[in-house]
Amino acid sequence: MNKKSITDVDLTGKTVFIRVDFNVPIKNGAIEDDTRIRGALPTITYAVEHGSKVVLASHLGRPLKDKKKTEEKGLPYDEAKYTLRPVAEKLSEMLGSPVFFENEDVASRISSLSSGDVLMRENLRLNAGEEKNDADFARSLAEGIDIYVNDAFGTAHRAHASTEGITHFVDTCVAGLLMEKELAFLGKALDSPERPFVAILGGAKVSDKIPVIESLIERRVDKLLIGGAMAYTFFKARGFTVGKSLVEDEMMPTALDVAKKAEEAGVQLLLPTDHQVVDSYDPLNSRKSIQIDFTNSGHVGLDIGPETADLFAAALEGAQTIVWNGPMGMFEEKPFDEGTIAIARAVAEATDKGATSIVGGGDSVAAVNQAGLSDRISHISTGGGATLEFLAGDVLPGVAALDDK
Ligand code: 3PG
Repeated sequence: MNKKSITDVDLTGKTVFIRVDFNVPIKNGAIEDDTRIRGALPTITYAVEHGSKVVLASHLGRPLKDKKKTEEKGLPYDEAKYTLRPVAEKLSEMLGSPVFFENEDVASRISSLSSGDVLMRENLRLNAGEEKNDADFARSLAEGIDIYVNDAFGTAHRAHASTEGITHFVDTCVAGLLMEKELAFLGKALDSPERPFVAILGGAKVSDKIPVIESLIERRVDKLLIGGAMAYTFFKARGFTVGKSLVEDEMMPTALDVAKKAEEAGVQLLLPTDHQVVDSYDPLNSRKSIQIDFTNSGHVGLDIGPETADLFAAALEGAQTIVWNGPMGMFEEKPFDEGTIAIARAVAEATDKGATSIVGGGDSVAAVNQAGLSDRISHISTGGGATLEFLAGDVLPGVAALDDK
């Protein structure tokens, strides 16, 4: 990485603003997945141990967009669900030391911090200036700050006040340890992967993944495995019956085009051969596993079938680099999580045999965690959209804004 790191600067006695991505799922005040908080612990601990005064800042959800939408519909808006207070409490538990939480007079609170203190600001997106990358808001975030650290890889694809704007008002801007780790793993996979290099992509929409598919084909990934509802756009474009499965009709020409590009580049493109379907007229009782070409007009495909799970697992054998993003089916609805869990197992097994594996995206990471396989994956990325944009070869504004080495 050609960007300065937190380890390149002297933190002693300095007030350090660490932009973290604590955009975590919270239900009734309880944090349902703390992967992103755990991911930021090394940087926070490093800053504390090196004698800095730590100011943490993150966004949580999209409160102002939610407010606008609910008000338009005449529904009540619940601002309480956007507070980062439960995250501060969880972090305090994890660190085993206090995390101060400040909403009101942040500037004076920052000026009274001592070395080793940790203060968390309230959800940045409660201020409209954050997403607008407003210069005044960015300047206010920089007040009293000596060093800016961006550890929020998951938000690095957004040019917001706390990820980009603030860097114009702080002299020293560096990457945190999590940011460095993410860039190291993903950068290696993209620029100089050990081969065979296999990518697995899933999820509902092919339109979300086209830039990544094109970038991986250009980089001559050896095999590209495509599952999830996005596979149906490829099937329909090739003239298969897909029933009532999810398809993006307008993306069919693009799907044919990328399949042709893959062939020309010598990239093996693998699509499912069987799938789990339900009958749209009797969804609850009709689940069955059938070959793709047995699909009829009433079927809805909701997961890959067992034959495909085996086919994809066999394609991973001998792989040296694996990148996986996106579920193989309707992961959130059991038993349609089975295909995704099977792929999680296959990725873990290939990792045991020497592959470097990188898993990103909410459902794929959840599958790995649910199956208790997280220790058998080389790197679990905390990025969703950021990972996809990085793999698509885009420059992430939150990274570009940091000081060069
Ligand atoms: C994410 O969850 O992908 C990041 O936290 C960014 O959130 P956003 O898509 O609301 O900008």
